[in-house]
Amino acid sequence: MDMQPIPAREGKHNLKDYHNARKNFDWEQVKRKFSWYETGKVNAAYETIDRHAENPSKKNQVALSYSAPDREEELTFEQLKNQSNQFANVLKKHGIEKGDRVFLFMPRSPEFYASFFGVLKVGAIAGPLFEAFMEQAVRDRLQDSEATMLITTPDLLYRVPQEDLPDLKKIVLVGDKVEASERYIDYFAEMKQASEDFAIEWVDLEDGMILHYTSGSTGKPKGVYHVHNAMIQHYATGEWVLDLQENDIYWCTADPGWVTGTSYGIFAPWLHGVTNVIRGGRFTPESWYGTVDKYNVTVWYTAPTALRKLVSAGEDVANQFDMSSLRHLLSVGEPLNPEVITWGVKALDLRIHDTWWMTETGAMLICNYPTMDIRPGSMGKPIPGVEASIVDNEGNELPPYQMGNLAIKKGWPSMMRAIWKNPGKYDSYFVNGWYVSGDSAYKDEDGYFWFQGRLDDVINTSGERVGPFEVESKLIEHEAVAEAGVIGKPDPERGEIIKAFITLNEGYEATDELLEDIRVFVKTGLSAHAAPREIEIKDTIPKTRSGKIMRRLLKSWELGLPTGDTSTLEE
Ligand code: WTA
Repeated sequence: MDMQPIPAREGKHNLKDYHNARKNFDWEQVKRKFSWYETGKVNAAYETIDRHAENPSKKNQVALSYSAPDREEELTFEQLKNQSNQFANVLKKHGIEKGDRVFLFMPRSPEFYASFFGVLKVGAIAGPLFEAFMEQAVRDRLQDSEATMLITTPDLLYRVPQEDLPDLKKIVLVGDKVEASERYIDYFAEMKQASEDFAIEWVDLEDGMILHYTSGSTGKPKGVYHVHNAMIQHYATGEWVLDLQENDIYWCTADPGWVTGTSYGIFAPWLHGVTNVIRGGRFTPESWYGTVDKYNVTVWYTAPTALRKLVSAGEDVANQFDMSSLRHLLSVGEPLNPEVITWGVKALDLRIHDTWWMTETGAMLICNYPTMDIRPGSMGKPIPGVEASIVDNEGNELPPYQMGNLAIKKGWPSMMRAIWKNPGKYDSYFVNGWYVSGDSAYKDEDGYFWFQGRLDDVINTSGERVGPFEVESKLIEHEAVAEAGVIGKPDPERGEIIKAFITLNEGYEATDELLEDIRVFVKTGLSAHAAPREIEIKDTIPKTRSGKIMRRLLKSWELGLPTGDTSTLEE
């Protein structure tokens, strides 16, 4: 694609200098900015919230600016500190200790954030779950993590299969009219009685902080385990890439059930002490533009799907709102179309900075920054302190323009430390000292990286990762379905949609009603974003002789491509 570069604009920092200084860069320089470098006492909740609450000139600043269709509320740093202290006291009273897994399953709300920091303050590990998860998705994650406590709302309780969760001892209910018992804790009643003083549990940088479940190409979702040390990179990228400044009003659209919603919806903005806009409810182009306009958002981190929707909503919608508060936008999760970047310059007079990273990597790695020229369609360059390359399957680096595995040299602070309860798995990501991402890309002669696609079967639909195995497993639970194979099918707006190929059990007829029933079965059993948009009935599903579904072959059929090597196909 031949597109003009979008020239750099000045941010707070001269990032070109950072970039030139990469060779001498050392993460120790960032660590020295934190007081724990001297004291040895660390807890990410303290650095993110309490530190600002203890600063007389910051404590009354709005930390959290919450709005949903039926509720608006602001919390200052001091209020957020006090409320999370209260919740930490509630947790302690009910026996939660360092290292315990406490899961949060509820819509975005001030209570979510107060609870989240309460969990960190007692030294427990937080497990945020996307509010749209249905029973199966909740079961898999709570079982695997052996969570002992869940914080949820009375409305969502029906999706928590308590009888299958022997480790789950207590459930905190955030809602009115909660009937408290041995098992159920009334959030508001207990908060009212809890002290606003709490002695934070100081932990080690390598102690557990958060578990994010994410999909791989095989098996159930895996628990990606992050430690307090990750905040070093959340802080650094907040400075260099988000380019956060003292008086910024920042908005990240991601839900905290996904990694973007914690690394960049919680840690990065609050480590920098900026006002963080949090929006509940459904999104429409009007409500997106309206949020920027109403709250005077200055830095906005969102996703290509959202931006594509803004583009297709047209200029008439854009012109109803004042976007002049914005300094720049950022994007993550799927390829950012070059057309969207040129639209940003034309329609909004703004640069959109693409960023590349993954749940496993914990924070941004390859990015566009304010003082760097954007090459539309490129993910940018590695941030200081990160070495990225394109390698072959043996971990040898490939020259410019050659496609291969997008890989990162071991050693950045926010890298996951383990896959929960699967010690062998972690090592399998590394080849010859490189973390192999599962994405394919190439780099040009100036070191810009260009995304090509995923090398495994993981589906990326509207920026959300879906594992085909999870969907297939749910499909075959339906009484009519014998076998299932699931792939991502390219889609202009969503990136990919989920397409399922199924065979039917004897006695079932392929009717539209049946297909709809199967779709709803996945939607209500697993989650809406994982439900196949297309279902096609086949006589057989191609499998290898060892019984693995050959999704690659299904995909080739779907796209009308050559089928490649089929020597392992069963008879
Ligand atoms: C994809 C989200 C193209 C990629 C933080 C990666 C991207 C997966 C980009 C991780 C980008 C992420 N351009 N593709 N800028 N950013 N991806 O774990 O395939 O939900 O491996 O993390 O999203 O998705 P995850």
